Order: sequence, then structure tokens, then C-alpha cells
Amino acid sequence: MSSESTPKETTNPAVDGSELIRFDKVTKRFGSNTVLDELDFSVDSGKHVTLIGPSGSGKTTILRLLMTLMKPEEGTIKVGGRYLTHEEKNGKLVPAGEKYIREVRKNIGMVFQQFNLFPNMKVLRNITEAPVQVLGLSKDEAEERARGLLELVGLTEHIDKYPNQLSGGQQQRVAIARALAMRPQVLLLDEVTSALDPELVAGVLDVLRDIAHTTDITMLCVTHEMNFARDISDQVLMFDSGRVIESGTPEKIFTEPEHERTREFLSAVL
Ligand SMILES: Nc1ncnc2c1ncn2[C@@H]1O[C@H](COP(=O)(O)OP(=O)(O)O)[C@@H](O)[C@H]1O
Ligand SMILES: [Mg+2]
Repeated sequence: MSSESTPKETTNPAVDGSELIRFDKVTKRFGSNTVLDELDFSVDSGKHVTLIGPSGSGKTTILRLLMTLMKPEEGTIKVGGRYLTHEEKNGKLVPAGEKYIREVRKNIGMVFQQFNLFPNMKVLRNITEAPVQVLGLSKDEAEERARGLLELVGLTEHIDKYPNQLSGGQQQRVAIARALAMRPQVLLLDEVTSALDPELVAGVLDVLRDIAHTTDITMLCVTHEMNFARDISDQVLMFDSGRVIESGTPEKIFTEPEHERTREFLSAVL
């Protein structure tokens, strides 16, 4: 990671319910496989939105596009009113350069199914590394922030351990703390409990519930944990074949889904 000249992090804009994420006719293909087909959707600032739907329906692709790990073939994505993959130069929209993408990406944190911690770094440094390297925080500032987050995820006593000395659930809680240390505007969560032994799932979900209920961070979450989705979501989007076929409050989606496909899916996972 290269350090940048911009000092400190930019502060989050006030959570005012304005649109934070906007997909506009986004099409993503892999060869002849159209995974997202002119997808439109938006997430308002401070909201918790859950994506549900069968395997292969394009949920991870949406999160990877937001992380700028891949680009759409067509359409545009905006985060905080700025284009993710394009920048405006002389009044024209041109493909974004690396520097611009790094700037926008700072606003987005992601936690993956496989925790992806840095194996050669202790817990504390896993959390402080990006704030120091990318945001330009001092080591002391970054460590203070990390200690606060380790308390939030219940891992204070494990601060000096290496990832392989922790359980999967503990590693995932470090990964959550690491994402939050960047103070992103939005936290993307992709099936973060799917790789965990069953007895470790509840601890991770409790931490996420806590974050959802006590912070104003926007969350976009892919999960098969329907009780969790019901607890934290303002809105649930049901995906099938790269389209949102139904959306609404958790009450509506889980108790009176309109689509046969949603009913089928829910009866298979509930
Ligand atoms: N890097 C890739 N190369 C080719 N095909 C891919 C790639 N990533 C995803 N896909 C395909 O895109 C579709 C949607 O995948 P994904 O977004 O991972 O679905 P979900 O997360 O809903 O299970 C699947 O058909 C998958 O095989
Ligand atoms: Mg997936």
C-alpha cells in the first residue's frame, strides 16, 4: 500500500437519509453470461439493506463492483454522489484513474466470507495498517482507534495474537474491526458467517447487530441468516438472475412475500 499526501481521513457526511449508493442500469457480464442485467437500486445513507437470493444470482458481484474489484460493462455506480468507475474531467465522463478510485474506495469497507486477515501481522497491526498507510493516521491515533474497536468486537485480550491463534469467529470479528477502522461510509458484508463453525456464528452476528444498532454506518449485507436479516434490515432485496424481483421491509418479505420465487427461496432457507 502506498501512502498518500492527503492527511487524515475525510469525515463522514452527516447521516441525513440521502442516497449513498446508486446503481443505474448496471450490466455485468462474464463472457456470454449476463450476471447483472441493467440493475437499478439505491441505498440511503444510514440504512441497513440486505440482499437475499439463490446462489449465483449476482449478490457477490454487486459487492465486488462496489469494492472496485471489477468494473461493469454498462451503466454507472455512484457512492456519495461520486461516480465509482468514472470521473468528470472537463465536463466529460471518462474512465476513472487509479488515484480517483483509491479515494472513492476509502469510503467503502468490506468483510468477506474468508476473513482475509494479514497472517504475518498481529491483531493490532491488522487493524492499524490501513489507517496508517492509507489515511495517514499516526501510529498512536491508529492504535487508539483499534483498541476502541477491539473492545466493540470483544477481543481486547487478543490484541497481541496472530490470526492463526484465533478461532474463525474471532478472526472474523478482527476483520470487522479492521474494516471499521477506516471509518467507511458503508460496510459491505458478504456471507460473513458462512465459513464459520455453527457455534461461532452467534458471536459474530451479535457484534454486527450491536454495530447496526449503535452506529450510523450504512450496511449492505448478503446473508443466509434470515433471523439476523430480519433484526437489522430496513430493507430486504430479493435477487434472482441478476435482478431485484422483490423488495420491502423484512416484515413484508419474510411474512408476506409476493413472488412465488421468493416464497420458494425462503421455504428452502428458513
Ligand atoms: N470472476 C468470475 N468469472 C466468471 N464468472 C463469474 C465470476 N464471478 C462470478 N461469476 C458468475 O457470476 C454469477 C453470479 O455470481 P455471484 O455474484 O458470486 O453470485 P452469488 O453471490 O449470488 O452467489 C455466477 O454465475 C458466477 O458463476
Ligand atoms: Mg456470493
